[in-house]
Amino acid sequence: RPAPMIAPSILSADFANLAAEVAAVGPSDVDPGVDWVHVDVMDNHFVPNLTLGMPVVESLLKATDIPLDCHLMIEDPGRWAPAYAEAGAYNVTFHAEATDDPISVGRDIRAAGGKAGLAIKPGTPLEPYLEILREFDTLLVMSVEPGFGGQKFMPEVLDKVRAIRTKIDSGDLRLLVEIDGGISASTIEEAAEAGVDCFVAGSAVYGGDDPAARVADLRRLATQ
Ligand code: DX5
Ligand code: ZN
Repeated sequence: RPAPMIAPSILSADFANLAAEVAAVGPSDVDPGVDWVHVDVMDNHFVPNLTLGMPVVESLLKATDIPLDCHLMIEDPGRWAPAYAEAGAYNVTFHAEATDDPISVGRDIRAAGGKAGLAIKPGTPLEPYLEILREFDTLLVMSVEPGFGGQKFMPEVLDKVRAIRTKIDSGDLRLLVEIDGGISASTIEEAAEAGVDCFVAGSAVYGGDDPAARVADLRRLATQ
């Protein structure tokens, strides 16, 4: 399998210094840099928390060359998601639970020039979405309830990762499997074993004083 991807989540970064916080996980003497920067957009309706939206994403796009992975935890994603792709976000992921028409939202993101991601909460089964995953570039499996950083990893969601990995490996599907929530030095190995391609990590990267070193640790542990 290709090298694991690491996507630090700026949810746990200092919001008054986002450009510097993103630069801190970029190329350094301990790590060649991260693959994506994960940006959590929350609207206080789909989840009980409020973070940032388009204006901050537009500023981040000017501040870094690292591809942005926008995770939209919002209601009515069809109304908002394509604009993130249009602005230049590399990957735009929205929640399956937030719309009746995930296919259209995914197609609109792709038409706007982005990669399209579908996210599912820990309690959401994979089966109803298996047939539509060909419309997506990324499947984001949440391993905590969306809304907050620093929560405990839920290993039971790895059954969904194993199931989708089997389909991908049998050639049925081309899709990046991303995991989000509670990923740290003590949980990343079991997630990697289950077949995750891309690991989001917020508090494990930004919780200490050397984010680049934490990224390097996670990458080493995730490399099988
Ligand atoms: C939670 C967000 C995550 C969050 C993860 O709803 O989607 O991206 O930043 O934080 P950690 O890695 O601390 O669990
Ligand atoms: Zn996220």
